[in-house]
Amino acid sequence: MTADYKVHGDIAVITLNNPPVNGLGYATRVALTDGLSKANDDAAVKAIVITGAGKAFSGGADIKEFGSPKALQEPNLHSVILMVENSSKPVIAAIHTVCMGGGLELSLGCHYRIAAPGCSVALPEVKLGLLPGAGGTQRLPRALGVEPALNMIVSGEPVKSEMLAMLPGQQLFNKMAASSESLLQEALAYASEVADVRPLPLVRNLPCKHPQGDAYFQFARNMVGGMSKNFPAPLKCVDAVEAAAKKKFDDGLLTERDLFINLMWTPESRALRHIFMAQRAASKIPDVPADTPTREIKSIAVIGAGTMGGGISMNFLNAGIAVKMLEMKQDALDRGIATIRKNYEAQVKKGKLKQDKYEQRMSLLSTTLSYDDLKDADMVIEAVFEEIGVKEAVFKELDRVMKPGAILASNTSTLDVNKIASFTQRPQDVVGMHFFSPANVMKLLEVIRGEKTAKDVLATVMALAKKIKKTAVVSGVCDGFIGNRMIEQYGRQGGFLLDEGCTPAQVDKAVEKFGFAMGPFRMGDLAGNDIGWAIRKRRYLEKPDMKYSKTADLLCEKGRYGQKTGAGWYDYVAGKRDAIPNAEVVKMIEDHRASLGITPRKISDEEIVQRLVYSLVNEAAHILEEGIASKASDIDMVYLMGYGFPIWRGGPMNYADEVGLFNVVQAMHRFAKNPLDDAKFWQPAPLLAKLAAEGKTFN
Ligand SMILES: NC(=O)c1ccc[n+]([C@@H]2O[C@H](COP(=O)([O-])OP(=O)(O)OC[C@H]3O[C@@H](n4cnc5c(N)ncnc54)[C@H](O)[C@@H]3O)[C@@H](O)[C@H]2O)c1
Repeated sequence: MTADYKVHGDIAVITLNNPPVNGLGYATRVALTDGLSKANDDAAVKAIVITGAGKAFSGGADIKEFGSPKALQEPNLHSVILMVENSSKPVIAAIHTVCMGGGLELSLGCHYRIAAPGCSVALPEVKLGLLPGAGGTQRLPRALGVEPALNMIVSGEPVKSEMLAMLPGQQLFNKMAASSESLLQEALAYASEVADVRPLPLVRNLPCKHPQGDAYFQFARNMVGGMSKNFPAPLKCVDAVEAAAKKKFDDGLLTERDLFINLMWTPESRALRHIFMAQRAASKIPDVPADTPTREIKSIAVIGAGTMGGGISMNFLNAGIAVKMLEMKQDALDRGIATIRKNYEAQVKKGKLKQDKYEQRMSLLSTTLSYDDLKDADMVIEAVFEEIGVKEAVFKELDRVMKPGAILASNTSTLDVNKIASFTQRPQDVVGMHFFSPANVMKLLEVIRGEKTAKDVLATVMALAKKIKKTAVVSGVCDGFIGNRMIEQYGRQGGFLLDEGCTPAQVDKAVEKFGFAMGPFRMGDLAGNDIGWAIRKRRYLEKPDMKYSKTADLLCEKGRYGQKTGAGWYDYVAGKRDAIPNAEVVKMIEDHRASLGITPRKISDEEIVQRLVYSLVNEAAHILEEGIASKASDIDMVYLMGYGFPIWRGGPMNYADEVGLFNVVQAMHRFAKNPLDDAKFWQPAPLLAKLAAEGKTFN
């Protein structure tokens, strides 16, 4: 049973009871319609109150039914709402805490609505590339007014009930309760008050018009179209609300239905729904049950106050967790603190952070030069130079001073976490926490699971990631982990494209048109070309037969490290981030090409994008096969959150699924025939080849 039924005097109360947010899944819908029938059949009942147990009226559709036929199984939400409307006795929605999506649509079918203050009210379907499909686009404009309703439907953002109640002429809430606690009592009283009023009022009968008519919808289209370039749903929301304003109610409902079904089939909506599920799935580790106990983390030590150490510390200060930073020298600590202050002060200046909050955060920060001062910390995160010898010295010290049970994390981006763990007597407490730069901004955290990392350490780190608002994805140990291991192949393809005839600007433009925030060369300039240079020196020394373009090395030999030196693949003017193509760099590429005896050819944008994106996909398939990532959707999350992969394409694996793995493999076979490319790399990973042959997908 997912709704409770109880009669108070002559009022029946149906309480949705499907934790955590009373999702309107099949069983809940059945229980709700059963309750409605019972109340209508009971002569002693004069009115019906629908409310929600626990922390929501209703959060809407049950995500477990997403995209499954169960969501449409009768009684579907439409039928439930129709049944509410047709009840011979008044139905009053008693709304509190959360009233979203289908929950709000259900309440709009009720004859009356009473709301508690502080309730988050939203129609968030647009965030999944959809629009409200159970009458929301037709009823909300009638209840609230066209303009505020359209704003809510197009943005999907929650608005507080008391704000909505203040809108002039609104009929969304007939009454506001004093509080969530008194809501039920007030709803019962209100139900008694309206029990005998006939005819029963219906939102569908309210007028719906915008005083400016067509001109308003034209304006709305211009605004919404400009802001939602790659997403079709927001403009369709405008169409649906326009139908509410111009058509008869039932015709408007049909328009909404058509628009909803069409959106359901768009790749953009599939991508957004995939991301929604992927985000939830990322925190689940197959062999670490959800009830694994976690260790208490009240204070953190950070070793190294450089670029990463400072950013990492800010995450915890923001979450109210005390941080102690350790450095070798006082001036390094001073510099680190000054950078943190500068970052916070910029936020204060922009009005994003209150002065007292800033001071409160800084008061949680302390520094030291001595390891012995770290003995009380619950966890330590190391962010020192990327050299195994330095890491060894640091971890030996940490092993000496940290209290038993403390978690020892490393922010290494390339080094072997198992080796780092072996420097201690407690490898079970060692884990990798790979933050991305700038660490206080970037949402991605790769959690590196060592061979011996304990399950409760993993569970603790995943919970902590949530607390500091990161999307954490677990990766096994390998060079580059998930993200950087894939990006290496992408970078190699970028180099080959230069050798074969492209300019950096051409490659970047093609990739940016595909939707990446930045092409590979602009990204290199931002991250610092010297970082990749150092990695190549180390890596290709170990793999002398690895084929790669030398152009990036030549660039670094000229000292063109990127934005930090004012020159990289492009030129930069101080204080600006615009990439200005540089003739000397183009000449350098041409000379190098000539020295290899290559005649340049014109390469299409399509080939550029395919080679770059499929290189990610092929490497990812190896990563999946080796168990470095436990699911394809984790790889998508890494690329969406950490590497600027276009959201509406849902990540590289989802994109490959959309293209069709058979087609992806065919393209790889074509690329393998290019003598200037790396034929060995383009052998499809066995997992990819198998899925393609079986007509299957990654996700
Ligand atoms: N910069 C990035 O984009 C990035 C991204 C992810 C991970 N990382 C990793 O983070 C780590 C730090 O990188 P960074 O960019 O912050 O480097 P950085 O050079 O900016 O900072 C390193 C800091 O560590 C300090 N340090 C060095 N040895 C120390 C020791 N023995 N004890 C205490 N402090 C010591 C240095 O004084 C310096 O302030 C590296 O492992 C790097 O691979 C960097």
